[in-house]
Amino acid sequence: APRTAGPGPLAGKVVAISAGGTREPLDPVRYLGNRSSGRQGIALAKAALVAGATVRFIAAHMDLPAPEGVELSTASTAAQLQGAVTEAARGADVLIMSAAVADFRPAEYVGSKIKKSDDHADPVITLVRNPDILAMLIAQRAAEGVAGDLPPLVVGFAAETGDAEAGVLEYGAAKLARKGCEMLVVNEVGENLTFGTDENTVTILFADGAEPVHASGSKDQVASSVIEAVAGALGEGTR
Ligand code: CTP
Ligand code: CA
Repeated sequence: APRTAGPGPLAGKVVAISAGGTREPLDPVRYLGNRSSGRQGIALAKAALVAGATVRFIAAHMDLPAPEGVELSTASTAAQLQGAVTEAARGADVLIMSAAVADFRPAEYVGSKIKKSDDHADPVITLVRNPDILAMLIAQRAAEGVAGDLPPLVVGFAAETGDAEAGVLEYGAAKLARKGCEMLVVNEVGENLTFGTDENTVTILFADGAEPVHASGSKDQVASSVIEAVAGALGEGTR
């Protein structure tokens, strides 16, 4: 792990971070995936290590290797990620869900490679909803109450595009309320923004009504801002 001068703002804290993107298999050679590279999650892990935290890192199909110094676990599908995240989150102080989780998966997994049929019919792939890992973890935390060991601070990431109905931050505020997490990092996305690049512009929203924090720059700079906000929230005490 990187060396720090002092004990660091997250010394003694356990931070669980999910990163990358899930893949949902269709047949043995094909899957539904997304364009998350894992770069933001890696930057978050490095920033948390520098801040002195123990980092449990749950990686799903990243373009790059996980940073040195983390406790690594891996997952492929959303269902697998749910299991791995729940395990890593137990006893942690913070969960940061930076992984891009597939909202849907093929309803049916075909055990042998799908062939072009002789009748030239266009195939139809039926999708079903995946579990919402973050929302289910927050519901589980509430069900367990004070005796539970799920993290008091849960941070979501939301990639949003504005449209004619509402702006990026309005959608972000609605998502923060819907998900029930303590912080939401809202990321404006588009064709040439965010995915696979090293530049990022985010707004950090807080459920307790604290002033939003704007951060932009490299994914390392954004990660530092998020970790700083996490340390601040832990310092104030959540729940
Ligand atoms: N997330 C999750 N499980 C899912 C989908 C999303 O845990 N099945 C988490 C993501 O890791 C992220 C947060 O929820 O931290 C927000 O993800 P996002 O895709 O923006 O939210 P959704 O509720 O899926 O809304 P949308 O319909 O806009 O995709
Ligand atoms: Ca989604």
